[in-house]
Amino acid sequence: MNDITYKKFTASSPGKFILMGEHAVVYGKPAVALAINKRLTCTIGKSAELTLNGSRIALDSNSYVSSILSANNLATASITIKSELIPGSGLGSSGALCTSLLTSIKSMFGKSYNKKDIASEAFEAEYKVQGRASPTDTSCCTFGNGIAVNCPKNLGKYLWTASKNGNTWDIFDISIPKMTFVIGYTGVESLTASLVDKVRKYREQNSFAENLIDEIGNITMDGIRALSKNDLEHLGRLMTQNHNLLSALGVSCRELDKLVDASLVHSYGAKLTGSGGGGSMIALTDESSKVCQIINLHGGIPLVVSTSVEGIRIESGNPIPN
Ligand code: PMV
Repeated sequence: MNDITYKKFTASSPGKFILMGEHAVVYGKPAVALAINKRLTCTIGKSAELTLNGSRIALDSNSYVSSILSANNLATASITIKSELIPGSGLGSSGALCTSLLTSIKSMFGKSYNKKDIASEAFEAEYKVQGRASPTDTSCCTFGNGIAVNCPKNLGKYLWTASKNGNTWDIFDISIPKMTFVIGYTGVESLTASLVDKVRKYREQNSFAENLIDEIGNITMDGIRALSKNDLEHLGRLMTQNHNLLSALGVSCRELDKLVDASLVHSYGAKLTGSGGGGSMIALTDESSKVCQIINLHGGIPLVVSTSVEGIRIESGNPIPN
């Protein structure tokens, strides 16, 4: 009722997948994430009540939305979210939601901000909701392209640093070669917070988990070097090794293992991506249609994605200040 009397502000963010290093990155190890050509768009307008996609909602009914609104002293607004990303599929829908909502709010208030502010505030929101998180997803959704966390300084362009709980993450923009990935969605929704908690408990009880995390850190560093040399064969092998280590860490599942194993015939490498326990896997391949067929045959939903895409973008409203 009240929401159409004001101007609307729209921003969008890309989804992402984690190429290597998930879970270990929560403990300060390196990781690489790539933005994809599927986006989430958020429109906001001033309103006397809080509405989400046309329906009135309570402030605490969506934890990400309420965390961002509270941080910006907003109790009411009219918010519309359109997404090409399946929630819980491991493609960064919460990171894309936090970053696009924040960008649209800042645009609405005509505030002075930069991309680092968005990445940092979105990370705070994810951290609050998930209990533990790394700034990988929110940085990738903000800056787009490819980002590396804690990589050697000569391999990327420094963007910003996040610190929490004794861990520090230096975020870099990295140049990435032309690559084709097929994403295989298991259809099983995964909850990042509970998988992150599972790893936390395992790590507290068993020093073997710490060794696995160290090893994921080592091979991810190797993966960042392989990317910089455009060595897809080596990168693929490292991805598959990364999957096996994540499996040993307890975050894979039958559906993911099945899709990863089946895709390997036509791929450089394959692995689960994101928190695991369901969600999606990725395969690096030159034969995307064959991998899509195989994923279909094994009960997954395939999606060919392209990388090297733009980060947050104002679709309508005040432009992002430089
Ligand atoms: O499931 P996703 O796409 O939200 O990825 C989570 C990645 C983790 O490393 C498990 C957690 C994090 O915040 O980095």
